[in-house]
Amino acid sequence: GEGPHVERQQWSFSGPFGQYDKAQLQRGFKVYREVCAACHSMNYVAFRNLAQEGGPGFSEDEVKALAADYRIEDGPDDFGDMFEREGKPYDHFPAPFPNEKAARAANGGAYPPDLSLIAKARAVKRGFPWFVTDIVTQYQENGPDYLYGLLTGYEEAPEGFEVPVGQYYNTGFISGETLAMAPPLMDELVEYTDGTPMTVDQYARDVSAFLMWAAEPKLEQRKELGLGVMLFLILFASLLYFTKRKIWKDVE
Ligand code: HEM
Repeated sequence: GEGPHVERQQWSFSGPFGQYDKAQLQRGFKVYREVCAACHSMNYVAFRNLAQEGGPGFSEDEVKALAADYRIEDGPDDFGDMFEREGKPYDHFPAPFPNEKAARAANGGAYPPDLSLIAKARAVKRGFPWFVTDIVTQYQENGPDYLYGLLTGYEEAPEGFEVPVGQYYNTGFISGETLAMAPPLMDELVEYTDGTPMTVDQYARDVSAFLMWAAEPKLEQRKELGLGVMLFLILFASLLYFTKRKIWKDVE
């Protein structure tokens, strides 16, 4: 089916001029790191990406220190053994489980999906051609809209609804009324030091924005290029128009 009704949210990165809010991406990263990363991998994101242009805006030194907080499995060494070492900026986020089987075993049979691209994977298409969906319906913001709706969608099940064991009722879930993820957020769960409210609502917004960045790290560059291309096309079209007028001015 169509899945849940996904409510539109306000995002700093909406529209043709929208950009990521760096402070929000940093807070969202903190939520991912302290909460979601216990169950979800983010295989395509490396620590160094956090210092890249158009991202959360961490400094190179901050990324070095951050990577060093992680133990990374490496190897085999000269003796064929695996070993652990301190994380480096080029390392990717270590996954919480060695493989899908282990992840399912730890989550009652359900698989917590990798979150690197989830913001794009869960963007609900509305059946228009891509240039309509992208430009007119702002389809790209649909993913974070969905993530926010999911994270804030836990509710008491209605009277008479049997919630299966190990499942949780959620009005935002795309493929059913219940899912195997327990509500991961609670007020005050993650410490914010910049005065931003420490609420489920705010955490959900911040981590959804962060996951949008993870899935679409070049959004700002893409929009800049797009605007340049539009400007060029407008100038070029008017140039052509006046040239045509001049060349054909003596022809009736
Ligand atoms: C599923 C996000 C924390 C376990 C999911 C899905 C998303 C997600 C987007 C996919 C839902 C879908 O299919 O549409 C997050 C975020 C978290 C978080 C942003 C942090 C705020 C956790 C934690 C656990 C967990 C801490 C484990 C204790 C699972 C499991 C599923 C899942 C088992 C699969 C559910 C199913 O298919 O029934 N999560 N998650 N998640 N998550 Fe999380």
